[in-house]
Amino acid sequence: MHIGFLYSRIRKDEKLLLNELRDRGHEVTKIDIREQQFGLSGPKGDSVDVSDLDIILNRCMSTSRGIYATRMYESYGVKVVNSSGTAETCADKVETSLTLKEAGVPTPRTEVAFTEESALEVIERFGYPCVVKPVTGSWGRLLAKVDSRHSAEAVLEHKSTLGHYEHSIFYIQEFVEKPGRDIRVLAVDGEPVASIARKADHWITNTSRGAESEQFELDEEAREIVRDANNAVGGGLLGIDLMETGDSYTVHEVNHGTEFKNIHRVTDVDVPAGIINWIESEVER
Ligand SMILES: Nc1ncnc2c1ncn2[C@@H]1O[C@H](COP(=O)(O)OP(=O)(O)O)[C@@H](O)[C@H]1O
Ligand SMILES: [Mg+2]
Repeated sequence: MHIGFLYSRIRKDEKLLLNELRDRGHEVTKIDIREQQFGLSGPKGDSVDVSDLDIILNRCMSTSRGIYATRMYESYGVKVVNSSGTAETCADKVETSLTLKEAGVPTPRTEVAFTEESALEVIERFGYPCVVKPVTGSWGRLLAKVDSRHSAEAVLEHKSTLGHYEHSIFYIQEFVEKPGRDIRVLAVDGEPVASIARKADHWITNTSRGAESEQFELDEEAREIVRDANNAVGGGLLGIDLMETGDSYTVHEVNHGTEFKNIHRVTDVDVPAGIINWIESEVER
């Protein structure tokens, strides 16, 4: 196959994918997003010609640039993974929560408000602790666990005074008493490639925040939830985050531009091979 590799920076994850593609003899055209110009009916200037690509894999670090570029390539008639529809849903935590809820996928209780006053009312109704998150973002950044009315007032005031306007979309969530870890599943169209538990003393268990991870065997219930979450957001190459609730699981996030070097390192699974297997099958479909 002839794959377009859309990127902004080649990290370890991208190196792993590029090596796998090269080992399999696929033709790869690298597309540096910073150098592209997009017209309404095709690339402009010295941009990469995408007309004979079978598929484009979006590995851009910037979510919004990646989504715009995906939309344009789709409009030119090129298939992109992940699709813009999937990426748009996953990029926004409000969209993700609504989409999971509509599909009947278990997800933490969440409410949204747009002023400090109404957000404080939501928080008081939830009780303490609860969680306030930015609607876009990742790596556990700017998440707040709110333990008291005073800290709620401070977080809300800081967000509305110092934050980007998006930080005044207050996304408030119940605090889930998870057992010191959460579960990250890397899945292709709902089929798990590999999964890890991310363990930390801190309530935020992103590996970028220092959590320790180890391979995790999914039971049938978790697999079903992963399939349902995948279908709900439109399907693709996804990092699906679950928390254990005692008797089941709840999905708190679905990542569309997912990093996987860590899952590759700590599990016995060849993750890049699993991803490229899936991309090959997408091209053949
Ligand atoms: N409602 C919650 N209750 C308890 N822990 C949570 C909750 N939401 C998130 N976390 C913890 O914070 C981490 C980051 O949250 P997440 O919603 O995935 O945001 P990000 O996009 O920054 O990764 C999760 O992996 C989990 O460990
Ligand atoms: Mg997450």
